[in-house]
Amino acid sequence: MNLFTITDLTKEYGEGGAKVTALNQINLTIPEGKFAVILGASGSGKSTLLNMLGCMDKPTSGIINFFDTDITAFSKHKMTRFRSENIGFVFQSYNLLPDLTALENVEFSTELAGLSRKDAENALSIVGLSERMNHYPAELSGGEQQRVSIARAIAKNPKVLLCDEPTGALDFNTGIIVLEALKKVHHRQKSSVLLITHNQEIAKIADIVITLRNGGVQRINENPAPLSPSEVVW
Ligand SMILES: Nc1ncnc2c1ncn2[C@@H]1O[C@H](COP(=O)(O)OP(=O)(O)OP(=O)(O)O)[C@@H](O)[C@H]1O
Ligand SMILES: [Mg+2]
Repeated sequence: MNLFTITDLTKEYGEGGAKVTALNQINLTIPEGKFAVILGASGSGKSTLLNMLGCMDKPTSGIINFFDTDITAFSKHKMTRFRSENIGFVFQSYNLLPDLTALENVEFSTELAGLSRKDAENALSIVGLSERMNHYPAELSGGEQQRVSIARAIAKNPKVLLCDEPTGALDFNTGIIVLEALKKVHHRQKSSVLLITHNQEIAKIADIVITLRNGGVQRINENPAPLSPSEVVW
């Protein structure tokens, strides 16, 4: 069964002369359990698409089904509930709370989801940060902070992990470590991963590469032999 089935999806921002069509009649299916990359130049509509899939925003027209459920028909309240039950988000910026330790940052979100300290510790161990749990964000490197934000996103074991340029602010070596953490999460938790990048080399680690161009799907490639992040160079 498909994780997402996207039908005639259009998103316009603004009105009249200022109107921008960010997504134009997109049709796409994303199977469950894959590591998928959304690739495309700046302005091609990648973040707009991810925001719709994560129920952060509503399309202008068209439908997104999450398995059998039309998530575009949800009320604001249902959108919030859907996000907290099914989606983990990772962004370019880590958005950690500076006065909380790594563990407390993860616990803060697990508490909201009704989970235990153990779940938070487990998530930090998956991303290789067991030793740094009691450090504050300012005491961690950028890559470590990003791994805390991944731990925060995965602690509730979401069905889907949506990542918008998670390595965008990191140097090459640190970026690889973060991609390895995401791959490990994918394998350990069996969550589907959708990762946005404009980097064609990073796309080589994906099972499926969806390329967007000017608000449309330019092509979809299945990768028979995805590379491990350590094999990628950019
Ligand atoms: N809130 C908004 N209001 C108006 N226009 C917007 C808004 N968000 C995005 N857009 C426009 O929609 C188009 C697609 O934007 P989007 O952010 O989805 O691109 P992107 O592929 O994520 O680009 P980048 O790689 O730079 O992040 C762009 O032309 C952008 O200017
Ligand atoms: Mg973007």
